[in-house]
Amino acid sequence: MVETAKLTYQGKTYEFPVIEGTLGEKAIDIGSLRKETGLITFDPGFMSTGSCKSSITFLDGEKGILLYRGIPIDQLAEKSSFIETAYLLIYGELPTSEQLADFNYHIIHHSMVHESIKSFYDGFPINSHPMAVCSAVVGSLATFYQDELNVRDDREIEIAIHRLMAKLPTIAAYSYKKSIGQALPYPDNSLDYSTNFLKMMFGTPCEAYEVDPVAAKALEVLLILHADHEQNCSTSSVRLVGSSMCNLFASVSAAIYALWGPLHGGANQAVIEMLQTIADNGGDVHKYVEKAKDPKDPFRLMGFGHRVYKNFDPRSKIIKTMAHDVLEKSVTKEPLLEIALKLEEVALKEDYFIDKKLYPNVDFYSGLIYKALNFPVNMFPVMFAMGRLPGWIAQWKELQEDDDFRIGRPRQIYTGTQTRDYIPIKNR
Ligand code: CMC
Repeated sequence: MVETAKLTYQGKTYEFPVIEGTLGEKAIDIGSLRKETGLITFDPGFMSTGSCKSSITFLDGEKGILLYRGIPIDQLAEKSSFIETAYLLIYGELPTSEQLADFNYHIIHHSMVHESIKSFYDGFPINSHPMAVCSAVVGSLATFYQDELNVRDDREIEIAIHRLMAKLPTIAAYSYKKSIGQALPYPDNSLDYSTNFLKMMFGTPCEAYEVDPVAAKALEVLLILHADHEQNCSTSSVRLVGSSMCNLFASVSAAIYALWGPLHGGANQAVIEMLQTIADNGGDVHKYVEKAKDPKDPFRLMGFGHRVYKNFDPRSKIIKTMAHDVLEKSVTKEPLLEIALKLEEVALKEDYFIDKKLYPNVDFYSGLIYKALNFPVNMFPVMFAMGRLPGWIAQWKELQEDDDFRIGRPRQIYTGTQTRDYIPIKNR
């Protein structure tokens, strides 16, 4: 028997079906609410609103569980590669050796960008934020690959997926190289995804550059940990833009912009800036914890809190351990790690953080690893974007294939003035 929820309004009772996901979460299907009652729901920030059914990622914020296609994140972080995880997210199953080799082959062989794209980088100011550059260049792929814009053609989508996965590291590395005035390198197809990216970032044409395998492994794990996170701000953006049947390149370009903000993917940059400010002001973490607690002070502890995780963020546990490992092997000591550890320790003892269930999130320690790997701070959100790309692709593809596909179009409660007449300017 179908479970239902009842709503009584103006003396009349309406019944709505309750739907249940495979891991037990339930939702009231209010699709017919407006038609039946004339009412809409009101839920700013989508605190209680499910926007879609999805079989890609599951997370349980109370228990700190994150699964990609059913597989726990810690298992993937330990045993998988980023490309294999991307395949899993996009196509739903772990690949066989042949499928993985084929996917890898296609990605490797699309890693170069069109030579004219290089000239775009001359047009951006030298101090441009790389997220702005990456989003613009990703959007521009729609002009180079006009035969891959049909969202109802599986073959076109397939090639667009290969191209995006292959080219984003090149596009990202170029945004950095240009900012420091170095030559834009070609990708090296003999290397794996992360090693190739690190070589493009830090190698120069003047001498041989060997990528540190510890750095490449750390990057792989970080990319895997960021690869999907169900209906967050940027993923909802990719779906909303894609729901107008807009092509993959443009939809992902929009998602990069959505990720940029400091409350989302920009938080890893904001964390390092916050830790640096604390260090520059004598390292007194108590003072900043007090500031964060003060309702009159807009300051927040960046890298703390999460809309969904109310116990711990499973990704932050893995990243914290990795931060220790990477920083131990690093030649230069990282004073900000000490501050981060102290800040976490002090904050987690405070009732404010305990009561509001605020714990370190994925961004709290990831920036420290990127810093140890020599990434400039403004590239941190770009690293998040590179990691999140397979998730965006998988969610966009799932939307296009959904039997219930329709354009996303929320309603609103209008709070403006009543109807009134236009007043000519001379009478105002
Ligand atoms: N420091 C101090 N207080 C906080 C913090 C924080 N980092 N986060 C939330 N609070 C307080 C907030 O002031 C509010 O208090 P009150 O109920 O008294 O008004 C309460 O906790 C609930 O916060 P909220 O803003 O209503 O919660 P939200 O679910 O809308 O926001 C969040 C989630 C992640 C945007 C927020 O916790 C935050 O701004 N954190 C800092 C930025 C950050 O680290 N973002 C990365 C998120 S993880 C990566 C990603 O998904 O992009």
